[in-house]
Amino acid sequence: MMAQKIKKPLTLCVTSGKGGVGKTSFTINFAIALSRNDSRVLVIDGDMGLANVDVLLRLSVKRDFRDILENGTDLARH
Ligand SMILES: Nc1ncnc2c1ncn2[C@@H]1O[C@H](COP(=O)(O)OP(=O)(O)OP(=O)(O)O)[C@@H](O)[C@H]1O
Ligand SMILES: [Mg+2]
Repeated sequence: MMAQKIKKPLTLCVTSGKGGVGKTSFTINFAIALSRNDSRVLVIDGDMGLANVDVLLRLSVKRDFRDILENGTDLARH
């Protein structure tokens, strides 16, 4: 069996020098648009203080980005 060729992921960072300009709103809607276009999408909310992608998507999360950085939590195991 031939090894499946894995495409290198494209990484995009959404940021701004000012708060409340629509980063989270844009990110969620862009991710939804990409996934509807058959792309596999991973959204990482890097806001250490008030991450809210989960709230807007009505998701219940047990761990966050801080767990990865501070505790070495392995994403693949959760
Ligand atoms: N395209 C848009 N048109 C109108 N209102 C918008 C748009 N995008 C976002 N908003 C509104 O602007 C506010 C801030 O949006 P959002 O939370 O996406 O910004 P943010 O840049 O992620 O903020 P923060 O810096 O606090 O993380 C929200 O009330 C949201 O509903
Ligand atoms: Mg935001």
